Order: sequence, then structure tokens, then C-alpha cells
Amino acid sequence: MNKVSNGVNNQEIKKRIEKLREQIKDLRYRYHVLDDPKVSDAVYDSLARELKDLEQKNPEFTGLNSLLHRVAGKPLDKFQKVKHNVRMLSLNDAFSKVEMEDWQKRISKLLPQNTVMDFFCELKLDGLAVSLIYEDGKFTRGATRGDGLVGEDITLNLKTISAIPLQLNSPYPEYLEVRGEAVMAKKVLVELNSKYQKAGKPILANTRNAAAGSLRQLDPKLAAERNLDFFAFDIVQTRQPGNQTTGKPEAETHSEKHQLLRRLGFKVDNHEQQCKTLDEVMEFAGKIEKIRKDFPFGTDGVVVSVNSLELQSFLGVVGKAPRYMVAYKYPAEKATTIITGIFFNVGRTGVLTPVAVFEPTLVAGSNISKATLHNMDQIDRLGIRVGDTVVIQKAGDVIPEVVEVLPKMRMGKEKKINAPKKCPVCGFAVEKREIGEKGHASTAYYCLNPKCPAKNLRMIAHFINAFEIYEIGPKIIERFKDEGLINDAADIFTLKKEDIQFLERFGEKSAENIITSVDAHRKVTLSRFIYSLGILHVGEETAIDLAEHFGSLDKLMHASFEEIDVIPNIGNAVAKSAYQYFRDKHNLDFINRLIKNGVAIEKQEVRIKKQGPLGAKKIVVTGTLKTMSREQVKAAVRNAGGDWTSTVSKNTDYIVVGSEPGSKYETAKNLGVKTLDEKAFLKLIE
Ligand code: IVH
Repeated sequence: MNKVSNGVNNQEIKKRIEKLREQIKDLRYRYHVLDDPKVSDAVYDSLARELKDLEQKNPEFTGLNSLLHRVAGKPLDKFQKVKHNVRMLSLNDAFSKVEMEDWQKRISKLLPQNTVMDFFCELKLDGLAVSLIYEDGKFTRGATRGDGLVGEDITLNLKTISAIPLQLNSPYPEYLEVRGEAVMAKKVLVELNSKYQKAGKPILANTRNAAAGSLRQLDPKLAAERNLDFFAFDIVQTRQPGNQTTGKPEAETHSEKHQLLRRLGFKVDNHEQQCKTLDEVMEFAGKIEKIRKDFPFGTDGVVVSVNSLELQSFLGVVGKAPRYMVAYKYPAEKATTIITGIFFNVGRTGVLTPVAVFEPTLVAGSNISKATLHNMDQIDRLGIRVGDTVVIQKAGDVIPEVVEVLPKMRMGKEKKINAPKKCPVCGFAVEKREIGEKGHASTAYYCLNPKCPAKNLRMIAHFINAFEIYEIGPKIIERFKDEGLINDAADIFTLKKEDIQFLERFGEKSAENIITSVDAHRKVTLSRFIYSLGILHVGEETAIDLAEHFGSLDKLMHASFEEIDVIPNIGNAVAKSAYQYFRDKHNLDFINRLIKNGVAIEKQEVRIKKQGPLGAKKIVVTGTLKTMSREQVKAAVRNAGGDWTSTVSKNTDYIVVGSEPGSKYETAKNLGVKTLDEKAFLKLIE
């Protein structure tokens, strides 16, 4: 209720609004940042209600700090794409102390001898990573991670999260980019699911999916209803007033970054600790493991970083993940069950994966009734039979798997599992192939039918996922195929509202949503386009490498095997598969139809390469250097902005020659590649 009566003059209302704002800001800070709420939720809510009421009635006093700014705006037609200035990375996982020790060994090798390093531990919250931009202290843009390079602008939805400050506390940098996790409390998910259940809607599997789904609502009102929360975990860019360039924040350690975030008004989770040794890290992780089930938010591990920012930048990034940070995930939860049957799942590449079926069994908080057996080798290795009692496990995001058979539980009626003789879906012949690298090779069975409907279905699902057309899930794809609306992914772009709205269980609104979403996602970057094709062995990262290297689809399509093979990070098998993909007439037809149906490929922005004296030059090293180990040279090349490659080609810029050089030296000389001795190399990277 508005507690200021009508007789009160404007100045007093303004004063009351200011007082309320100040008080609310302080209470929010105490609650979110200091974790020390001085008043009950009801008192806070009452003050907030009064302020909102006053602001609504007196719009002339609605400044930036207004509560009304948190009120959801108008629904959007689509989200705008935004390019991240600094790539949003992901983390490598470690599941045991041994894997943590391996990580420490790996990074210690790259650092100068006797480097002392501290670790910093914090919770790995189970939500959705977002990037927040502040200009002149004001929240101006929030975006999803997307593929790490390009995300979606979800500013309006993020503004409805009260833990995200709209205005930073002074003093603040002129420009700031903060990263953090948008999360849904476990309690909120339970309430939401019970509402969904009553309404007959499918329930949400976990808090992460729920948070992600909420932020992808085009209508901010719906996002606001979901009651999300936000925890900041990193500052990636700042620019101080008067400076021309954007740089690193004024902090020397990751823990100082957290302090700075708190000071600026962000909520940072308080379960954090600086550790001198891995033993201390493991002790912290153990302590959290015991209490995490009582946390209001889901956590699936502990993020462990090298605390010093100088060492972090020395260690750099490899692929999509930083070397200086790792996610220690809690060990998988296990349970036993009896296998009642197996079936073969047909993947988009035609690979047949055996899957075990059992009665629904509770593991790691969810009921599971299927678990992958990976391949026939795994079935042989574990000696699995139908009817066996087995141990199944599930860890975080990892798909459930069978890890062990309990042979003593056998009754004598268990049945052996035979390799598939034909595709379970189309009945076509299958072929046995050796896959993987030497030493890790395994046998896989592939359906040979290029038109296999199961393969086709998965291919479409993969494509739609790559194009981020989330409104079309696997069930809808199946339905559209059954109704004859689509044969492959290219047909998605010719769908019309009228095709869909008269189908049973669809309606005008859902048809419209699907068409709007398809239209909004016709434009993709070259790397997304390449990834969407589902080329065997070409994942997101390889797609980016190919796109950056060739710059256009045409160039990639006409590249020779050698031209693909020469790209750093791209191995032989990958190059072969990519090359062969573009030699197949069906594939070329498919690509032509995509373009004809209105798919547009955007220019590939090359990732910001680390600037340095070697400025993206390709370097090969042969022989032994006196001052550095091989790993140290690699790190030095990368830190100087160069590309480390292991084979010499005409694209190599320099070959660094140590003592006892190998055959690479001869090859390089024949190709006219510039040679450097150790001294010249060291001078170059200074
Ligand atoms: S640091 C280099 N810190 O985990 C990536 N991530 O697997 C930087 N996450 O995409 C992330 N809590 O969504 C970091 N305290 C935390 C985190 C955290 C959750 C998520 C985040 C990220 C994913 C990486």
C-alpha cells in the first residue's frame, strides 16, 4: 500500500522514494552480498511494494534505480545475436584426486621451475553462464554463452533478476564485463514443477534446464515469474576512465576479483577458499560435498583456479578451456539394477550404440531406466548379459552408464548379447569398423543405408540444435516427418504456419512460435553452419577451426585433402572425413537446398588471437633446445601469439632448430621455410 497520503506534496514523495530506494539497496546488499539480512523477507517485500506503488503513481521520479526497471518489458520477436569480445570458455572436468594431481603436474610443467602457486576454490553452480556488460556503471547488455563466440541478447530477462545490479557501486570502471551463473533455487523448481504437473505440462528435469528455459523466454514477464538468482564469478574486461583500451581488472588474483565484484554490488557465493596445496583443495571439496545437498542451489562440483592472474595468463587457453582452471566434479552416484533387455540406438552418423534397459532406478536424484553400453567391446569387456545385476552410475551431466556386472548374482538364465547383424530401424546391412586412435581403438557397427530414417532423424535434431531452433524438439521433428512435412533439415525452412496449425495438438500460437523461431535463426555463422552438417568427427571446435581457416563455405568445399590436413589441431581422420563429406552428391544437394531455402551464412569473425611478437605465425620446433623443455616451448610460442604445429608445410612461418634436429629440418629447408636457432627464437619472443 502507498503509505504516503494524497495530501503530501511532491517533494515529500520524492524524498520518500529516495529513502525507500536507499534502504532497499542496502537491504539487497546485505542479503545478497554480505549474506546478513537485517530484516525478514516480509519487511523487504513490504518496502519494495511501497516503492513500486509510489513509482507507478509518480513516474516523474522514476530514475535508473527504479524498481520499475526490473519489471518485465514487452515480449520480443526473437533474441538478437551478440558477439562476445572475449570468448566464453568452458571447463575441463576432473573426477578424482588423481585427475586433479594430473592437472597440477600438467600445468607445473609449463611454468618456470619452482613456481609457487596458490589455488582458489569456489562452488560450481548448476545454472547457465551469462555475460553482463556495464557502461558508465549501468547494466547495458546481458547475453547467453551460445557457442562461446556468439550468444543471444537476453538483457530484458536478466533485468528481472534482482541480484543483478542495474547500477554499480562507485567507484566503478567506465566499462566492465562480468561473467556469472544464473540459477534457479531448488525450492523454486519444486514449486514450478508442481504447478506444471497440475497443468499437465512436462516437468523440468533439473534446476539448470529450468534456469536456461526461463532465460530463453521471449516474454520477459514469464522469465520474471521464474524467480531466478545470479552469482558473479569472474571479471573479464574493464576500462578505467580516461583509458583508451580495455584491459584486465585491477586485481592480481582470482580471489581479489571476487572481492572487487562484491564491492561493485554483485552477489558472489561465500563458499570459497584460497588453498596452498591440492590436499587443502581436496579437503575443501570434501567439506562441500557433505553439505551441498542442503544448499538452496544445485552445485555439481568445485571450480579450482590457479589464483595468480599472472600465472593464469601465462598458462593460457587450450581449445575451449583454460589450462589454469578445472572443474572438480563430485564422483558419480551409483546404484544396482537388473538388465531387462538391450536395444541398439542409431546415431546421426549411423553408428549403432547398445543401450541397456532396466526398471526405473533412482540415481543422483533422477529416475533412470536406460544406460549406454557404449559399444560391443564394452559389452565383452564387462561380460554383460541380459538378466544380469549391474552397477549403473550417473555423474552430473554425464549420461548414465553401466560400469560393472555382479556375476555372483547370476541365476543361470542370463542371455549373451550378440553384435547387430542389421540396422534395427531400417533393416539395412551393417558394417563393422575400427574407430578411434591407435591404443584407444574400439569396434563400432554402422548402418550403411544413406537414407536410414533413424539416422536422418538424429541428423535433423543435430542440425536444429546447431541452429538453436529450440522450439522444435525431437518429438516435433518425428511428428513433422510422419506427417510428411519434412524429409530432411532443409525442409524446415520451407514450413508455413498453415502446414502446422491444423495438426492435432498444435494450434495457431504454437505454429506461429515455430515459424518465428525458424525465421529468427536462418542466419548463422560459417562455423555453426559447418557444425550443423553433422560431418563425422567435426564437432563445434573443429568447425570453428575450419571456418576461420577457409573463411568461406566455397573455399572449404573445394579444398583438397592436404589443404584441410595442414590446419593445426585437425588430425588425419578428421581431415579425411571433412574432405569426403563434400565429395558426396547427396551432401552437396542438401547444402544447395539449404541456401535456396533461405539459410544465410554470416562472415566468420576470427577469434581474437592473443597479440604478441609472433602474431599468429605458425612455428615448428625440431631437435632439443637448451633452455626449455618441449612443453615450455609450446607454451612460449602460444603466449607470444604464435600457432604451435607439429608438421612442416609450406604454410609454416618458422622452424626453430635445436640440437640433433629431425627430418623436419630437411623438409623445411626444401620448402624454403625460414629457420631460427634457439638464440634468435628467444629474441623473437622477448
Ligand atoms: S568459471 C572458463 N566459475 O560452469 C569458464 N564457472 O563448465 C569459466 N560455472 O560455463 C567459468 N559455477 O556456466 C566458473 N564458479 C564458477 C562456476 C562456473 C558454474 C559454470 C559456467 C561455465 C561452466 C563451465
